[in-house]
Amino acid sequence: MLKKPEIIVALDTKSLDSAQSLVKILGEKISYYKVGLESFVLFGHTLIDFLKKNEKKVFLDLKFHDIPNTVAGAVTSAAEIGVDIINIHCQGGLEMMKKASFGLKEYCIKKGIVQPKLIGVTLLTSLDSKYFEEMKLNWNSTEEYVKHLAYNAFKAGLDGVVSSAQEVKAVKDICGTDFLTITPGIRPSFAADNDQKRIVTPKDAYLLQTDYMVIGRPITKHENPALAVDLIKEEMK
Ligand code: C5P
Repeated sequence: MLKKPEIIVALDTKSLDSAQSLVKILGEKISYYKVGLESFVLFGHTLIDFLKKNEKKVFLDLKFHDIPNTVAGAVTSAAEIGVDIINIHCQGGLEMMKKASFGLKEYCIKKGIVQPKLIGVTLLTSLDSKYFEEMKLNWNSTEEYVKHLAYNAFKAGLDGVVSSAQEVKAVKDICGTDFLTITPGIRPSFAADNDQKRIVTPKDAYLLQTDYMVIGRPITKHENPALAVDLIKEEMK
């Protein structure tokens, strides 16, 4: 029997009230939320504390990309505030990823705190092969590039990667089935594509056996977000 992917709802908003009321409206239907750049910059810790008080899990999506020492400092700070998943850019390089992963492990053991899952961002789902021309990169396909970045993340000791669901099989083939995949760019049949390019339906993401699906606007901008979640779950049957 195939495992159903966990839905992570992306709380991309400038209104703390609307983020909090969405969490209340979705209740038991959703246990994982993503706090990203837009909401974290405005009210990060308040929102994270609210989610924790409501026994929700938190994916802190700040996509760290800096020199190795700074990124290692950022991921250990994220561990201190008690989030469950954090991420860094694979394009920051192998040394940066290694320093973040070993630094995080060492820090959490020393402090006796639960280690958040450390995830690498491969290629943003808003980008496609045009990006290679733009950056003068010599890759034949997005899949080839994502596989390369994912394997670097695996070698550096990360727990998984963010990629399009289209690349889950390639990632799992090269890094093993336990290597986690978090996939945004999910578009149910009732939703618009928005700015996402490498999109996949919930049903296909499920059949491709991703571990987590990140879904924002199809739920948060729906006139009835709880119904949107039910429809997405229905599509996965
Ligand atoms: O609204 P939508 O479903 O497109 O939201 C997707 C979320 O996933 C956004 O918060 C976006 O920042 C995030 N994300 C993404 N592509 C990645 C990594 C994160 O769309 N590769």
